[in-house]
Amino acid sequence: MDPLTLERIPRDRLPGLLQRMPKAELHIHIEGSLEPELIFALAQRNGVNLPHASVQALRQAYAFTDLQSFLDLYYAGASVLLQEEDFFDMAMAYFRQAATDGVVHAEVFFDPQTHTARGVAMGTVIQGLARARQEAERALGLSSALILCFLRHLSEDDAFATLEAALPWREQFIGVGLDSSERGHPPEKFARVFERCRSLDLHLVAHAGEEGPPAYIRTALEQLQVQRIDHGVRCVDDPALVAELARRQIPLTVCPLSNVKLRVYPDMAAHRLPQLLQAGLCVTVNSDDPAYFGGYVGENYRALFEAHPSLGPPQAWQLARHSLDASFAPEPVKAGWRARLDEVFAEAVGPATARPTHA
Ligand code: ADE
Ligand code: ZN
Repeated sequence: MDPLTLERIPRDRLPGLLQRMPKAELHIHIEGSLEPELIFALAQRNGVNLPHASVQALRQAYAFTDLQSFLDLYYAGASVLLQEEDFFDMAMAYFRQAATDGVVHAEVFFDPQTHTARGVAMGTVIQGLARARQEAERALGLSSALILCFLRHLSEDDAFATLEAALPWREQFIGVGLDSSERGHPPEKFARVFERCRSLDLHLVAHAGEEGPPAYIRTALEQLQVQRIDHGVRCVDDPALVAELARRQIPLTVCPLSNVKLRVYPDMAAHRLPQLLQAGLCVTVNSDDPAYFGGYVGENYRALFEAHPSLGPPQAWQLARHSLDASFAPEPVKAGWRARLDEVFAEAVGPATARPTHA
C-alpha cells in the first residue's frame, strides 16, 4: 500500500485499526494460553492437586525475574492437561480470543515432551489440538496450523524419539521449533534432528536471541537452517547480524509483553522493536504465553503502540503485512488476506483536504 496514503490516516484511528486489521499470530505456545481459571477447572475435572490455593494466589505468583522463573510455573500449569478434551478446550479458548483480536491465521506451538514425560500419549495431545483447529475453522473462520517444539533443555536423543512418536500424525503439523531454557543450550545441539525434519519437508523455526546471545541466532540460521527466528531481539547487540537479517528478510517473531515480563527490557518504552522495523527487518508482533504475560496479541500491539509515539498507522500496516508474509500459509490464501488488510486501511484514510474551487 502506498506509504503516502498510510501517512494520511489520523493517529486516533489506531485503536480500531490495530484490532480490525487482519493479522497472523506466529509465536504462541498453546500451553502458555492456559488461564489460571482453566488450570483450576481442569485440575478439578482430572483430580490433580495444585500447589496454589486459588486462582488469585496462582496469578499473584506470576512475578517473573527471568525465563527460567517463568518456565517453572508454565510446566507446573501444564500438569493439569491429561485428556484429549483438555487440549481441545485449551486451544478453543485461545482461538476464540485470537478471533476477537483480528487474527485470521495462527501458527501454534505445542510442547509434546511436557506431556509425554507425564504419561500422556502423543495421540491425545495432537488429536485434541487438531480437533480444535477444525472447530476454529468451522465456527470462527480462523485458519491455523501446528508447530511441534522440542524442549532444548532435554537431549537431542529425546528430541529424535519425540519426532518418531509424532510421525504417525505427520499430516497434523507443518513444522518444528525449539523452545525452553535458552542459555547453555545452543541451537547446534539439535543440528541432526533438524536435518532429519528438513528431509521430512517440515518447516523449521527456533527460539534464539531471547535471553541467549546473538551467536545463537547465527547458529540457528546456519546450522539448523531455520526459516524464522522466534524472539531474536538480541540481534541488536550485533550490527552485522541486524544487516544480514534485513538483507535476507528473515522474519523475527517478537513478543513485546513477554520481553518486558521476563525482563529482557525494563519497560515497554525501552523495547527495540521500532528500531528493528526502521532498520528494514521483517519483525512481527505476537503474544508468546498470553495467560502468563498480561495479554493476547491485540494487547501486545496496543501496549507497544502506546509506549512508542513513533509508531503510527503506517507501522501498524507494516507489522500486520509482515505477519501475513512470514506465515507458512499458501500464497493464494495470503493474497486474500493482504487485499483485506489494504481495504481496512483504505477505509480509514481521512477525507482528502478539499481543493479550493473557483467561482
Ligand atoms: N516456552 C514457552 N514460552 C517460552 C519462551 N518465551 N521462551 C522459551 N521457551 C518457551
Ligand atoms: Zn516463545
